[in-house]
Amino acid sequence: MFPKPGRRLTLVATGFLLSVTVIVAIPASAQSDPIPARAEALLKQMTLEEKIGQLNQVPGIDFQGSGKPDDVIARGLASSVLWVSSPKEINRLQRIAVEKSRLHIPLLIGLDVVQGYQTIFPDPLAMAATWDPDLSEQEQSIAAREARAAGINWAFGPMVDIARDARWGRIVEGAGEDPYLGAAMARAQVYGFQGRQLGGADRVLASVKHFAGYGAADGGRDYDSSYVAEEQLWNVYFPPFKAAIDAGVGSLMSAYMDLNDVPASGNKFLLGQVLRDTWHFDGFVVSDANAVGSLVTHGYARDDEDAAYKAFGAGVNMEMVSGTYMKHLADLVKQGKVSVAQIDAAVRPVLAAKFRLGLFENPYFDESKTAAILSAPEHRRFARTAAQRSIVLLRNEGGLLPLAARGKYSSVAVLGPLADARPELKGLWGGMISANKDEPVVSVLQGIREQVGQGFHVEYAKGASIRREIPSFFENAGELSMHEEPLPDAVHQQADFDQAVATAKQCDLTVMVLGESMLGSGEAASRSSLQLQGRQQELLETVSRLGKPVVLVLINGRPLDISWAAKNVPAIVEAWIPGVQGGAAIADVLFGAVNPGGKLPVSWPRSVGQEPIYYAHNLTQAPETKPDFISRYYDSPTSPLFPFGYGLSYTTFAYSNLRLSNEQPKAGETVEVSVDIQNTGSRTGDTVAQLYVHRKAGSSSYPVRLLKGFERLTLAPGEKKTVTFHLGEKELSFWSPQARQWVEEPEQFDIWAGDDSTAQLHSSLQVSLASN
Ligand code: BGC
Repeated sequence: MFPKPGRRLTLVATGFLLSVTVIVAIPASAQSDPIPARAEALLKQMTLEEKIGQLNQVPGIDFQGSGKPDDVIARGLASSVLWVSSPKEINRLQRIAVEKSRLHIPLLIGLDVVQGYQTIFPDPLAMAATWDPDLSEQEQSIAAREARAAGINWAFGPMVDIARDARWGRIVEGAGEDPYLGAAMARAQVYGFQGRQLGGADRVLASVKHFAGYGAADGGRDYDSSYVAEEQLWNVYFPPFKAAIDAGVGSLMSAYMDLNDVPASGNKFLLGQVLRDTWHFDGFVVSDANAVGSLVTHGYARDDEDAAYKAFGAGVNMEMVSGTYMKHLADLVKQGKVSVAQIDAAVRPVLAAKFRLGLFENPYFDESKTAAILSAPEHRRFARTAAQRSIVLLRNEGGLLPLAARGKYSSVAVLGPLADARPELKGLWGGMISANKDEPVVSVLQGIREQVGQGFHVEYAKGASIRREIPSFFENAGELSMHEEPLPDAVHQQADFDQAVATAKQCDLTVMVLGESMLGSGEAASRSSLQLQGRQQELLETVSRLGKPVVLVLINGRPLDISWAAKNVPAIVEAWIPGVQGGAAIADVLFGAVNPGGKLPVSWPRSVGQEPIYYAHNLTQAPETKPDFISRYYDSPTSPLFPFGYGLSYTTFAYSNLRLSNEQPKAGETVEVSVDIQNTGSRTGDTVAQLYVHRKAGSSSYPVRLLKGFERLTLAPGEKKTVTFHLGEKELSFWSPQARQWVEEPEQFDIWAGDDSTAQLHSSLQVSLASN
């Protein structure tokens, strides 16, 4: 939806002169592309039932009594299987499709390869905290290589839902609150999964999800309705999807929830008007699991037949799991409600994806090569680098960290329920892939032990146990089940607690590893509180009162309420859900082998009551910038605890000399914005230069600031570099609710550059009307 160079016209809307760019469709495939003809030729041989079979995705495992899908595959009535992750089983199912079905059409094998397949990387929110899209591309290219080596050819990712409410458990699966950062990470992940063009032997088909507005669930409650005004959809929630589509994503997953009272998986505005008519998406849409069947549950469809009719009519090509297409589409054709031409149109992009993936030529993977690819040491090394780069240093009073630099400690107590935890470091999707269950995970304790070597005494105590108060349904999901340990009884809990405090007493300093339980974030993991689970806060306070230095390491999928720690614990390290090398990367940061440079991809609230909280809010009639402004709440400051874009380093940086190549561009022209950055400390380190803009007037209000450029860079002590950003039509346009268009308005803009969203270095520019 970002304007592409195209026709320009000027129109007068509601009294404002607006320069409007009209989006011009780019033909999806070049004339010479042989795939449409191959798909067409195959389609001509198919019966109606086989065509509908290509719109049917079934569990590849026995899921809640579904049984194995062998028969339905042999009859050519399944296009795709999901949730099967064991390589041998994948080849077996593929053989049934290719050798036994009448037309030998291979299967799409879909899986939630969201943060890796065998090598589990940091969660997507952590990857967003790297502010390094190239790293994210590399990550997903490794994930794709491993997945493909095991027969998986379709990843259900990237998940690009903008999330501005930390109560929503799935905030961990996306890139956080910002559409610009979100779009960059979406694009990078699509390139990582698919390559620049779908078809590489070690790449997979990607599926951008969940279209759209899922992250805006009422109250942060997963699956609840979202009510999102149209301008918010265009300006905030759509951009990452559009970026994925521009990057060539081959499939898109429709979301579960109601968007403005119409379920997303039966929503013609989303799947028709926006996706097909405006963006000209030429891939296929798959529903989320059971999302078609649940149109009945929503009270939107009368029964399964009506659900199939509504989802298909809205534009869902392939149904995931609920099976209503298989049961009812043929009847709907007989009744004249759905035409064969419509069915053909839905099947074409599915067949095209299979041709593009090369599945007709190479349906199987080479089992003799799988083990070597999955165990590649460079994948583990990359997992460690990715985790290092995702870590955000939130607090470091008195330069407590890095510990190696101090040389005055000889013993450390490593405490907390996550200190020696392993499955918790893999997250929900990483943990659900049964094929990787034997992959070693480096816990924080192990990482510290390996790092400190001789001369440093390391003691461990768990101190507290955590689990969800209300269990996740993933504890009862058959082969996909994951389990949180039961809590010990009160007596044992107290003994653990006392032992941890005693351990802390014996040591010079304490590293406390606290956060969320294994199913504490992710799908179906919303919370009404952001407090540390269980007795963790009490343990933190008790240990802190001992008067020895404490470092808090957080392992979690969302911002938590750490207001107490932010005042009382000198060093706080946000490590997210860091993947299989997480413990090693955390130790690298604690002991100074690595200087942390991650930045928050979300505003960090002081308390749950501030949610939803995001930096790009609009100004009000009594804005924060007024001299007499104190707070919009009378019991808490309005500002977050840590702002979007924030993160400390073991060195310091100075930003200066913000300058523009042209302070009075015409609409459509691009301005270069440059800023000098110097490392003013004594260690090499990373900073993320961030560019924010604000439009001072126009046909709509404009957020107080919007991120429009960023670059992560490394500087040696004393080194100075200039970073140059480009502000053009794409960056300066906004979807105007009055013009109902993307418009670049001839107005004044504030510009700020710095290392978080409160950057003060300022300049401005005045856009004037483009001459026609
Ligand atoms: C989730 C999707 C996921 C699908 C298949 C659903 O419950 O919402 O994100 O891709 O399951 O596992």
